[in-house]
Amino acid sequence: MKIAIGTDHSGVELKDKIISKFSEVEFDDVGTNDLESCDYPDYANRVGKKIQNKEVDLGIVICGTGMGISIAANKMKGIRAALCFNEYMAEMSRMHNDANVLAIGARVIEVDIAFAIIEKWLKTPFEGGRHQRRVDKINEIEDAQ
Ligand code: RB5
Repeated sequence: MKIAIGTDHSGVELKDKIISKFSEVEFDDVGTNDLESCDYPDYANRVGKKIQNKEVDLGIVICGTGMGISIAANKMKGIRAALCFNEYMAEMSRMHNDANVLAIGARVIEVDIAFAIIEKWLKTPFEGGRHQRRVDKINEIEDAQ
């Protein structure tokens, strides 16, 4: 599985730890890679584009709270970014929402929790059925913009 991963300055350390921890995953690291202040929408955009272009299967985006970068990612066509604070949210975001981007707040959760969230998110499939109908309705809203 190939995953694009991107962060602003607040999540560089967490991004590096995630890449080391999940060695079975092929990561496409779109940066940033230093602690100089930068703008989270730029990294949401890079990750989203990789998904839109089918260069990767899924994406992970990180900022301080996870809020700004998830808001930015969700502006992109076909992107369903879920900001998750626990394993249950991660599981539901895949099962019910078919989330293709996981957003994490580096300043609001512990590293072990972030790992558990990612583990759950990666192994949970989309359930389809009535949830597909709801995702289709999300797509209709997007198409109507
Ligand atoms: C950067 O200081 C911070 O605003 C950003 O990482 C993020 O938390 C925004 O939502």
